[in-house]
Amino acid sequence: MELIQVEGGFPLSGEVVVEGAKNSALKLMVATLMAPGVNTLTNVPNISDVHTMGTVLECLGAVIDVADEHTLHIDTSCIDSWVTPYELVARMRASTAVLGPLITRFGKAVVAMPGGCNIGARKIDMHLQGLAALGVEFTIDHGNIHAAAPHGLKGATVELEFASVGATENLLMGAVCAEGTTIIDNAAREPEIVDLADMLNDMGAHIEGAGTPSITIEGVSSLHPVAHRVVGDRIEAGTFIAIGGIAGGPLTVKGFDPKHLDIVLRKFEAMGINIEREEDGVHVSRAADTPIQPSDIQTLPFPGFPTDMQAQTMTLLALAAGDSFITENVFENRFMLAAELNRMGADIRIEGHHAIIHGAKGFSGAPVTSPDLRGGAALVMAGLVADGYTKIDGVNHIDRGYEHFVEKLQSLGAHIERHEECPLNLDSFAPRKA
Ligand code: UD1
Repeated sequence: MELIQVEGGFPLSGEVVVEGAKNSALKLMVATLMAPGVNTLTNVPNISDVHTMGTVLECLGAVIDVADEHTLHIDTSCIDSWVTPYELVARMRASTAVLGPLITRFGKAVVAMPGGCNIGARKIDMHLQGLAALGVEFTIDHGNIHAAAPHGLKGATVELEFASVGATENLLMGAVCAEGTTIIDNAAREPEIVDLADMLNDMGAHIEGAGTPSITIEGVSSLHPVAHRVVGDRIEAGTFIAIGGIAGGPLTVKGFDPKHLDIVLRKFEAMGINIEREEDGVHVSRAADTPIQPSDIQTLPFPGFPTDMQAQTMTLLALAAGDSFITENVFENRFMLAAELNRMGADIRIEGHHAIIHGAKGFSGAPVTSPDLRGGAALVMAGLVADGYTKIDGVNHIDRGYEHFVEKLQSLGAHIERHEECPLNLDSFAPRKA
């Protein structure tokens, strides 16, 4: 088991370039299943979720050539399976994104039913209802979803109950080759949806309205392979911007479109963080004599405040000069970070889906455990400004979504390293014999 150790209090400055977006790369990878031949993806982040998705594709028969650290050639001409086993879905819920593409390619799919995860029950009922409207019949047995479209896929109008990212993507990929027109109303508008629609259109699909609440898809008979560059990761960027905000910077964060993070940047500015926007990044700083101002944040689907930036923002607000509020509207159980930050001296109370944060004077380094991907990054962030040493356990969560996180922070001047965890020696805790 590895852990990250940070010695807090050192100034950070310099430039960091973010990778391609995890949430985009994973869906672009599954989209290649629908275009037999060699597809090329560039700017792919080298993170463990991408490795897991690679295993999912290989399990279905794809051949992946890793041309360099960020370029994948995915040959999907020999896909000969439509079954995604539980071991892979359990490792990464986003594996369920294969449902739409496999139904498009084979008219059928078997995908293990995902369980809950540490941020909530995360149902996929909207994915299934939407695909059912296109003619897919589902049965569930022994923990697997068996999907089949015995009469082919037919376009339909589907109104999502909630602007779910995953349901919008599965439906897009189920509808690209359906007969006739599909309309997805109340569709998710995240930049990663636009990236997926752009790649599908390059493959020959006819999709209009991606990035708006209503997406129209005219079915086409087939798709062809393409080369596509993954959009920059706005959440990795937001994490480094939050780090610049808490530590003071100055930092330059590049490789993403600041428009994809607009509400986060505006909220951070209101909190006293200076942000200068450029086309492909931002400069971040906060003067030592400018305290972080309290705020009131509500997470919402894009263009609202992203739930994936909630943990990093909670860490900033834990040190604000006053009381702040965060309301989590997207996931039901995404406040597990609060208890870990409280171990470091924060004063955060959780009431249902609200967090009440009384600003503390500072963090004090402590051993803590990553509750999830973004919570893990947020604990590293707290450690960077804490008094003394912070040891963060559960590094596997951070590795799911951040490439070379420790090395990037070292390059900014952080005193941070990864360690093999020493086995616990209980003898040293034994009561002394008289
Ligand atoms: C994606 C992102 C995740 C991000 C989230 C919201 C990926 C791999 N993950 O997750 O990082 O935090 O969007 O921006 O892209 N829901 C249902 N039924 C459904 C579908 C969703 O009840 O059929 C609920 C979920 O439990 C959750 C909420 O809707 O509470 C939002 O989920 P959704 O937008 O679908 O998120 P994901 O696609 O899972």
